[in-house]
Amino acid sequence: MAATKPPRRRSPRAAKPAAGRLQVLEVEEKLAATHAALVCAFHQMLDLKDLDTGCHSTRLAEWAVRVAEELGMEERLFQAVEISALLHDIGKVGVPDAILQKPGALTDEEFALLKRHSEYGWAILRLIPGFAAVSHFVLHHHERMDGRGYPAGLRGEEIPMGARVICVIDAFDAMVSDRPYRRGLPAAEALRRLQESAGSQFDPRVVSLFSAFAGAELPAVAAAAN
Ligand SMILES: [Fe+2]
Repeated sequence: MAATKPPRRRSPRAAKPAAGRLQVLEVEEKLAATHAALVCAFHQMLDLKDLDTGCHSTRLAEWAVRVAEELGMEERLFQAVEISALLHDIGKVGVPDAILQKPGALTDEEFALLKRHSEYGWAILRLIPGFAAVSHFVLHHHERMDGRGYPAGLRGEEIPMGARVICVIDAFDAMVSDRPYRRGLPAAEALRRLQESAGSQFDPRVVSLFSAFAGAELPAVAAAAN
């Protein structure tokens, strides 16, 4: 057994690092509070613009973090995944309402404009100190495993893991949410469609984990909403 060391005598010089550490903690706390306020403010803005996720966004963000944990992502990225899940479509503020709310199919030109939303989101979020990973996940949240996504046409492992998680969240949310021109799909059908495109559009591990969480908890979420 190691002998217990006598407590070190404190010298005025030794007190300096402790004070410095305290200052660092204070700065970190202030930064975390600022980040939380920013995320809240952006989320409110999405709500006003009717771009908030229609399907229990907080619950979706929670599932996204649990998927990230199960995938073995680095712990420091969990918060980035959570924030990306809440704000992934923030770039749609730069897309004309006439396109976002158009009943029926978009023209090629309109679809090209809609696709810009992931770049717009990156352009907004990258300006915030500490949001490098968030902006990166948002930029790539419409890439596909087969390389046919956008904006960069990345494929498979080239796509940041956080972006692969958000891709599934975004697709599920889009399928189950009501639109001015159509009703959302039942959750079970949306999960079936995710499975159908696992491997081509989505990372199969993400789909499998997400389906397990969502499948088990959706009935309770729906009951609470009703
Ligand atoms: Fe999106």
